[in-house]
Amino acid sequence: MRQLFVAGNWKMRLNGRQSIRLAGRLRERVGDVTDVRLAVCPPFVYLKSVAELLSECSIDVGAQNMHAEEAGAFTGEVAGPMLLDVGCRYVILGHSERRHVFGETDEFINQKVLKALSLGLEPIVCGGETLSQREAVQTESVVSDQLKSGLAGVTAEQMAKVTIAYEPVWAIGTGRTATPQQAEDVHALLRALLTEMYGADVSADTVIQYGGSVKPENAAELMAMPNVDGALVGGASLEAASFEGIIRAAQSARK
Ligand code: PGA
Repeated sequence: MRQLFVAGNWKMRLNGRQSIRLAGRLRERVGDVTDVRLAVCPPFVYLKSVAELLSECSIDVGAQNMHAEEAGAFTGEVAGPMLLDVGCRYVILGHSERRHVFGETDEFINQKVLKALSLGLEPIVCGGETLSQREAVQTESVVSDQLKSGLAGVTAEQMAKVTIAYEPVWAIGTGRTATPQQAEDVHALLRALLTEMYGADVSADTVIQYGGSVKPENAAELMAMPNVDGALVGGASLEAASFEGIIRAAQSARK
């Protein structure tokens, strides 16, 4: 049975002092939570200090991106082995900002997913449709294609280390959340696709997070949906109280 998973994506928002302060507050408030899986994803430069601060508690650390190669002449990039070296368990891959602001392709994201898994990092593989794609009734084909190409070459065994995040682009950072039913419809579709790709057991065990303006006020109803297994949280993960509120909602929504 899958355990709910709440992860905070701090994006490029907090400085070092703020990162350490937030990590310390989270350790105090939710560092002993074990019935929901927890992670925070600070900017690269603060990963090590945040991971050290959280090392004795139940909150894991993830990176927001990585390069597909292990080393080489890639100025400005960060490789998977470096993330392991500073204490990362997870890495967010294919976030909509990487896709749409930095032009990452499905193929490149897939290379990163395969590399992360081969190194022992656990990828959070993101996808979601834009507003115009939703309006053009393309949601189903967009998210299906993203899932299939993102996971190309990933084995059923490796799926135990993969989290999927459905993040409608129109809901990210906009304050406009998908309704629980809108989220559930897409999550159920993704789950059915996972069943086709990997069989019912792997599909039933795969965590599918929802992301896009998740807040303490809407988290419970989203996570009450049968196929919504947690949240990838941006803005509301930057304050300990609101992130805690989402984690408490996850605890009470446990299926
Ligand atoms: P948001 O971001 O919660 O601020 O909408 C979610 C995300 O981008 O992962």
